[in-house]
Amino acid sequence: MRTAILIVLAAGLAAGCRPAANQTGDAFTATGELIALSGGEGGATNACFACHGLRGEGDGVATPRLAGLEAGYLQKQLDDYAADLRHDEIMTPIARHLGHDDRRAVAAYYAALPVTDPAGSPTQGPGLYLTGDPARGLVACAVCHGPTGQGVGPANPALAGQPASYTVEQLRRWLRSERRNDPRGVMTAAAAPLTEPEIRAIAVWLETLPSSRPPDTDVASLSAAGTASARLAASHGIHRPGR
Ligand code: HEC
Ligand code: HEC
Repeated sequence: MRTAILIVLAAGLAAGCRPAANQTGDAFTATGELIALSGGEGGATNACFACHGLRGEGDGVATPRLAGLEAGYLQKQLDDYAADLRHDEIMTPIARHLGHDDRRAVAAYYAALPVTDPAGSPTQGPGLYLTGDPARGLVACAVCHGPTGQGVGPANPALAGQPASYTVEQLRRWLRSERRNDPRGVMTAAAAPLTEPEIRAIAVWLETLPSSRPPDTDVASLSAAGTASARLAASHGIHRPGR
């Protein structure tokens, strides 16, 4: 962990001599970057960069990239881990060590990090991803996640470039109701009809896509995502709290 400590010191210096980290951890609320590099209140074993990479790029295996994902999405995931709506042996305790302001700061930090993969041309996805399968009540993933997995709006996350095994695991967790944090049950419904080979084919393709995202958000897909989510929830008779 010597490297971690050196990096934290360097970050402190670069930030223009902020107050040194103190025993109460107050200094850790200062910036998301410090939390990413030091782990905040949870200490060095919780330092995000150790698993998610120095540039938030993920480890290419089981740890997702965080760089460039929407701040609201990232913060919601941390809240959901802490509330155990999204259970994970590693991330649940880490999220519980962060206060509300720390979660917001570290989410904003990762959202603002540039995506560093080379901008390649995406290949066309599996038919099921692009068009769904109405006969099985399967809405096209592309409606909510974009045709090249770039995400749509603040709530529908980018999937492009995420490790295949991470994506497979998330879909399995929805099938097993271990991840229960999707608004209006949209992902529970979307994952339910998928077979294991279909899950793998989609996940392997998503991994090959460039993570870089076009700067503008497509308003047409945004409203299509809203309509699709309403249709999906209705067709699966999903109860919407508060509606
Ligand atoms: C020991 C390794 C490790 C550390 C340290 C760690 N993470 Fe994670 N993180 C993971 C793994 C593994 C996952 C995937 C868990 C799952 O399947 O839900 C993950 C998932 C996440 C996600 C969900 C991303 C998505 O696309 O939904 C967020 C957000 C996140 N981590 C943020 C953080 C932050 C912020 C920190 C530091 C405070 C941190 N992580 C520290 C391993 C780690
Ligand atoms: C109606 C909209 C909608 C459709 C259709 C949809 N999704 Fe999602 N998906 C979401 C939302 C919203 C989330 C974020 C849930 C949360 O807040 O954790 C999500 C999250 C995910 C995640 C987790 C991302 C991460 O970083 O952890 C994966 C993987 C995923 N979707 C894959 C798919 C696939 C594959 C399909 C098609 C079979 C699909 N989705 C269809 C809305 C949708």
